[in-house]
Amino acid sequence: MCHSTLPPISLPRQLIRTFNPLSIAVIEIRRHLKCHTAASSRVYTVQLSTTNRQPPTVSVQLCTALHTAVRLARGLAISYNIMEYKLITEDRYDDVVRHLCDNFFADEPLNKAAGLCRRGEGHRELERLCYETLKDNLSLMAVNENNDIAGVLLNGVVHPHDIVQAHERIELSDDERYKKIFRLLNEHNLRANIFGHLNVERAFEVRILSVDGRFRGQGIAKELVRRCETIAKDFGFKLMKADATGIFSQKILKSNGFKVFSEFYYDKYTDEFGKPILLVEAPHIKLQLMYKLLE
Ligand code: ACO
Repeated sequence: MCHSTLPPISLPRQLIRTFNPLSIAVIEIRRHLKCHTAASSRVYTVQLSTTNRQPPTVSVQLCTALHTAVRLARGLAISYNIMEYKLITEDRYDDVVRHLCDNFFADEPLNKAAGLCRRGEGHRELERLCYETLKDNLSLMAVNENNDIAGVLLNGVVHPHDIVQAHERIELSDDERYKKIFRLLNEHNLRANIFGHLNVERAFEVRILSVDGRFRGQGIAKELVRRCETIAKDFGFKLMKADATGIFSQKILKSNGFKVFSEFYYDKYTDEFGKPILLVEAPHIKLQLMYKLLE
């Protein structure tokens, strides 16, 4: 029963099929425009209390959101893009890594600057980092109605000694491009000493944020970051941290309440002759170590 004065709404069958009982879903409605910009999207987060009956019953406050969503969709003759956000389980690990090979490994600003991977190509050390992070069971994915992965946020636990030990591990790699990237990240973290300054022993690290090129600009990354805060709180973390390597991840984290702890301009990362080690493409100019303290 929908306890609302609003008339009952019948949701399109496609919407109903996708929702699992007690699932949280985001209905994303996008105009059919030639250029799919973020401005043309509206995102509604709705929680369904059950899907056993049709139409599904929704709580009062969510009823309004659903009404608006369906009205807009009809009125604007638009397509629905339904995203469900869920924890990444072991059966999807390989799909997640495939998504990263197709997107993050080639697109992330430092990977791109180093020419680390061609699109679709794997990378031994990066893949190992991904699988290890996934095993912490804190990672999220956004999937569409076909269960295809649209975006992921890999989160891991990090302790002060991990940052010290990472140095040795990086030097073991025989890939100079990989070393250039991870030396920069690791040295910045060592210098910043966020654990010492904030007097904490472990952090929830927002480690790998990636959205499939076909789904960018729809608020998926922002939503993934927003939702991972709940996970961090549930597991009792006091600190969330991230090495944000590009202007867009920095913006996304900032809009989710993260602050800049320290930053480093890429043109200062030079060799012994003063030559830049990584030529990072504009508009990405600096690395920011960002953090959020949790209550
Ligand atoms: N151009 C302009 N603005 C952008 C762009 C872009 N290419 N990408 C994101 N933004 C802005 C959006 O306009 C939006 O701003 P608003 O809230 O003011 O409207 C905000 O950033 C959030 O955008 P989302 O739609 O949530 O971002 P999206 O889902 O497109 O994903 C991401 C952004 C993850 C950076 C994606 O472009 C990507 O996968 N890039 C390659 C990998 C990468 O760089 N990951 C981050 C590295 S740092 C880390 O992982 C910790």
